Amino acid sequence: MGSKMVVMALVAAIAIQFANCNMEGDVLYEWKTKLMDPSKVLGSWDPTLVNPCTWYHVTCNSDNSVVRVDLGNAGLSGPLIPQLGLLANMQYFMVFGNEITATIPKEMGNWKKLVSLGLHQNKLSGPIPASLGQLESLRFMTLNSNKLTGTIPKEVLELVLWGDLQTLNVSDNHFQGRVHPADPTGYAVTTIMQDPKIGSK
Ligand SMILES: *[C@@H]1O[C@H](CO)[C@@H](O)[C@H](O)[C@H]1NC(C)=O
Repeated sequence: MGSKMVVMALVAAIAIQFANCNMEGDVLYEWKTKLMDPSKVLGSWDPTLVNPCTWYHVTCNSDNSVVRVDLGNAGLSGPLIPQLGLLANMQYFMVFGNEITATIPKEMGNWKKLVSLGLHQNKLSGPIPASLGQLESLRFMTLNSNKLTGTIPKEVLELVLWGDLQTLNVSDNHFQGRVHPADPTGYAVTTIMQDPKIGSK
């Protein structure tokens, strides 16, 4: 390979690096463009910065990769977007107490390091994606008080039975059927909470 080609290959490699460099910021910013944010809690989400690590409500690891989003009770409305699944190091996604609508993207099943998914008290509809059963690090999942339908996927129940999922609250949704708590004390390591009203209908 001539030196000119080497230089060209290098320039191309650097250009690709730059293009990818704020991928996580681009994903979060894309989500922001889909949200209504009357309290301007996302005001610091500036896509021209090199990464989203200085944005409010976002936490990164030492490699400047997003590990937390903390947007509980933030007055947000609008959907979750499938591209959020590209945030490969996500550990805590806390977006409860808003008016988040539409469905839970199946791409969240890519969050292999996810520890806690807090989506309670929103307006989410549609089913729980079976792909969430791939979240083998998941310990807490609160989906209570939404408008979710269908049944709880067996892949997700397997996380409760065989995985680390300690708390799964699915109360106050529009699910079919009934799930019994794994332990009547409610403080067991493995607990599923489902609206008792459903059983008496
Ligand atoms: C589970 O969700 C229901 C409905 O939102 C709520 O009333 C209940 O307190 C939750 N349980 C726990 C242990 O958080």
